[in-house]
Amino acid sequence: MTRRAHIDRADEYLHAVPLTGSESETVGPFTLFRPTSALSYYGRPTPGLSSAIDPADVTRFGHRCDELGLPRALEWVVEIAPSASSACVNAGWDVVEHPLLALEPSQIAPVVSPPGVTVRRLRADRSDLRQAWATVQIAFAHGRSDTGTAGTAALEAENARVDSDLISTFEQRTARGETVTAAAYDDGGRPLAVGQHQPVGSTTEVVAVGTLPAHRRQGLAAAVITTLVQDAAERGVDLVLLSAAGDDSARLYERLGFRRIGSVGAAEDTRPRAVPPRSADAGSPPR
Ligand SMILES: CC(C)(COP(=O)(O)OP(=O)(O)OC[C@H]1O[C@@H](n2cnc3c(N)ncnc32)[C@H](O)[C@@H]1OP(=O)(O)O)[C@@H](O)C(=O)NCCC(=O)NCCS
Repeated sequence: MTRRAHIDRADEYLHAVPLTGSESETVGPFTLFRPTSALSYYGRPTPGLSSAIDPADVTRFGHRCDELGLPRALEWVVEIAPSASSACVNAGWDVVEHPLLALEPSQIAPVVSPPGVTVRRLRADRSDLRQAWATVQIAFAHGRSDTGTAGTAALEAENARVDSDLISTFEQRTARGETVTAAAYDDGGRPLAVGQHQPVGSTTEVVAVGTLPAHRRQGLAAAVITTLVQDAAERGVDLVLLSAAGDDSARLYERLGFRRIGSVGAAEDTRPRAVPPRSADAGSPPR
């Protein structure tokens, strides 16, 4: 597959995955996804756009998010919607770009877990999913890749903070095969590292990869991603995407065989809302 074919597949996939948990609405050049579960989704340029995106389009999209009580957030593949970044900046939104990587599963350089650690896929079990999500929350609260002291002792307190609606959503999505979670466990059955993938047809994306700070730099994230890619291949997926937080994590993924194919842009407007929200903002799996 060529790099361009990968980019087109990525754009198609990134538009399809929110539709597994939302109802869509067209707002100018964008599609807005109204969540039907505890996951929320960034809006996106509607595929097949022929004209450039304007700052006024972004402002109009923000107003519609306000009316619905949704976070003002947009995401796009930079190579597909090159005008989106400047339109968002000129509308006063905060913009970031992340490396977009891709892997054909047969090209993986697999990493096995170190001795004493077992990596397994999770069933649709609330308690397992809750513990796994607590692990992800601790990981993302502690920097991008620095090691630290937070380990399994932090899990119990974090478990209590996990949003129960989000776990119900993961439970249902796991049962339907829309979300797959894998985790690395120590010999006491405690999770040390976690990741997910979200297959739609023959494409998937690895998201929410996190390792407890006290257990980093032992190859645990690499072993979890290896298991996710193997699971994806068993489900007939032939393209695995991944949006890296930065160059540090991109290096880890490139060692597994992922190749950079482009960039994903994301924009948020966190300035005060024009109208009060009608419902609470929900969470989304971090990328
Ligand atoms: C990014 C993150 C998931 C990496 O987790 P990890 O389990 O430490 O990852 P790995 O151990 O597989 O690889 C990390 C590094 O350790 C190295 N490493 C692996 N095994 C090692 C070992 N036995 N001894 C020393 N170094 C080792 C890897 O080569 C890699 O090196 P690099 O920094 O040059 O790429 C983790 O830091 C984290 O949770 N960060 C916060 C959340 C986040 O940013 N997630 C990523 C979103 S894209």
